[in-house]
Amino acid sequence: MALLEHGHVLVLPDLTFDVSEAADVIYADVSDAGVKNVSYNPANGELKGTPLDGTARERLADAVARYSDWAEALVRELLPAYAKGLEKGRTSFRPRAADHNLSKRKDDRRLHVDAFPSNPVQGRRILRVFRNVNPAGEARNWRVGEPFADFAARFLPQTRPMAPGMGAILQALRVTTGRRSAYDHLMLQLHDAAKEHDEYQAHGPRWAADFPAGATWMCFTDSVVHAALGGRYAFEQTFYLPVSAMGDPAASPLRILEAMTGRRLV
Ligand SMILES: [Fe+2]
Repeated sequence: MALLEHGHVLVLPDLTFDVSEAADVIYADVSDAGVKNVSYNPANGELKGTPLDGTARERLADAVARYSDWAEALVRELLPAYAKGLEKGRTSFRPRAADHNLSKRKDDRRLHVDAFPSNPVQGRRILRVFRNVNPAGEARNWRVGEPFADFAARFLPQTRPMAPGMGAILQALRVTTGRRSAYDHLMLQLHDAAKEHDEYQAHGPRWAADFPAGATWMCFTDSVVHAALGGRYAFEQTFYLPVSAMGDPAASPLRILEAMTGRRLV
């Protein structure tokens, strides 16, 4: 828990999650053209981003739902201290290689921390559990960057405070699903500033991290600077966690940014 909270990626190479019964649907061409991921909402069973229908669609949804349950059980077992505050978000299946035709801001091959434009977190942590299910044994290739505090110090001078009333306007227009806080605004600006900075993308600190087929890994993607360069066929489950549920709340991006700016951000 302390390692995760302080920016490490936890890799679990030997866990079992069997997808063989759904292999014919998950390794078929299951995602819509132009859509990055198949997305599943565990709260209502809604599946998006796939042209499949009928039985094939149901079986794909079952496989993603089964991963969602498996990832939740794993987090609850490994990190029991989080159990009370843990909130499950969306699940994704990522069948494609990284898309080369996206704008810099949308290109996850560029180093960034996760921040969601339409889904404000209001300071809550983003914990994600990934699993590489590549049938050909190909690794998933990441780059992992500098500690969050260094990243924030580098890009904070380029950020501007949110205009007064902006959070309410975005919510009223349904641009966001909840109220965008000053924290969300700042995290989005850090995300965008890093992705748009060609010099940082070319020469900023980074290390290669390759996750072999069959590996499971998790990290707080709102504080681990990362880039997903390559690899096909991975599952991902998102969790949200209140800062108060952390062992060391001072390690959260919220508290780090509040200390750096001298402002309350939520
Ligand atoms: Fe990301």
